[in-house]
Amino acid sequence: MVKEMVRVLVTGAAGQIGYALVPMIARGVMLGPDQAVILHMLDIPPAAEALNGVKMELVDAAFPLLKGVVATTDVVEACTGVNIAVMVGGFPRKEGMERKDVMSKNVSIYKAQASALEKHAAPNCKVLVVANPANTNALILKEFAPSIPAKNITCLTRLDHNRALGQIAERLNVHVSYVKNVIIWGNHSSTQYPDVNHATVMTKDGEKQVRELVADDQWLNGEFITTVQQRGAAIIKARKLSSALSAASSACDHIRDWVLGSSKGTWVSMGVYSDGSYGVPAGLIYSFPVTCEKGEWSIVQGLKIDEFSRAKMDATANELAEEKSLAHSCLE
Ligand code: NAD
Ligand code: LMR
Repeated sequence: MVKEMVRVLVTGAAGQIGYALVPMIARGVMLGPDQAVILHMLDIPPAAEALNGVKMELVDAAFPLLKGVVATTDVVEACTGVNIAVMVGGFPRKEGMERKDVMSKNVSIYKAQASALEKHAAPNCKVLVVANPANTNALILKEFAPSIPAKNITCLTRLDHNRALGQIAERLNVHVSYVKNVIIWGNHSSTQYPDVNHATVMTKDGEKQVRELVADDQWLNGEFITTVQQRGAAIIKARKLSSALSAASSACDHIRDWVLGSSKGTWVSMGVYSDGSYGVPAGLIYSFPVTCEKGEWSIVQGLKIDEFSRAKMDATANELAEEKSLAHSCLE
């Protein structure tokens, strides 16, 4: 059976994540090797020439799955008929800034683009917000696009999830594909809580708990957490630019699992609209462990939460509640 064409919007497509992301989408990394795509790329007028350069390169790369490219600075043209929207457009933080420092510039973009998506995207369009502050931009997008179902609006914490897997793999000197079921709770910020209490590693003697194999709670409750929380800042310090290839790759992981399903027995982290699970206040976009099937995510239920985790999950929820009111005051 021939699959229907999928239109994928990337905003901020002339930027550095955009430049890493669009060839991945055109190669089938996001939606699979049998899914033809039309790329919609949006940027702002000062970046129009650079955006056209990206379009020229996409043509030059002769991707078999790429059936068309729309490169535009017109938000309506960009959003029209899209099935998937990856919202990268915005301003990245610089060294020494927290992600919420880019709040006022970025939330107003998300308010404006919410209505274009609501009016012009395909029904059931799935939205992934990457631009920071990612959770709060996604929440603003949700609030200003009330007819898009809340379950269709998500933000990227898969990069943090993958970072956590990478840190455990390095510590245990195993391949990252053997590690699974870490969790990122909360905000894509330095208060996020990378939790390994349910994470396992596949060994020659079967699946073992990460805590048992690492056997160093001080490291797991200390340096491991801060390394993952601060990894974005460490990359900015090293590159003088924020992460791009890992962000683009993780955005593909997020959409691929959401659309095509997560692997059996494995959960992933996604920033989603809270329904009150695990005592997280409803009305925030908060990162939870989820599984995905048939294009729908669901929060993994019933995990035991100890006191240490509870405090960290609450702290990051409190930060999100503060960001929410700060965002509303920026928009007044
Ligand atoms: P960048 O500055 O290289 O690119 C951003 C692009 O967005 C630019 O081309 C800019 O012209 C464009 N842009 C600005 N306003 C726009 C608008 N209104 N509409 C459309 N495009 C617009 O930045 P980058 O490194 O690609 O990062 C993009 C965003 O992603 C930043 O906010 C960054 O902090 C965030 N980020 C998030 C994660 C995550 O895990 N959630 C990871 C890395 C980066
Ligand atoms: C990241 O985590 O790498 C991004 O959110 C960029 C940043 O500002 O840290």
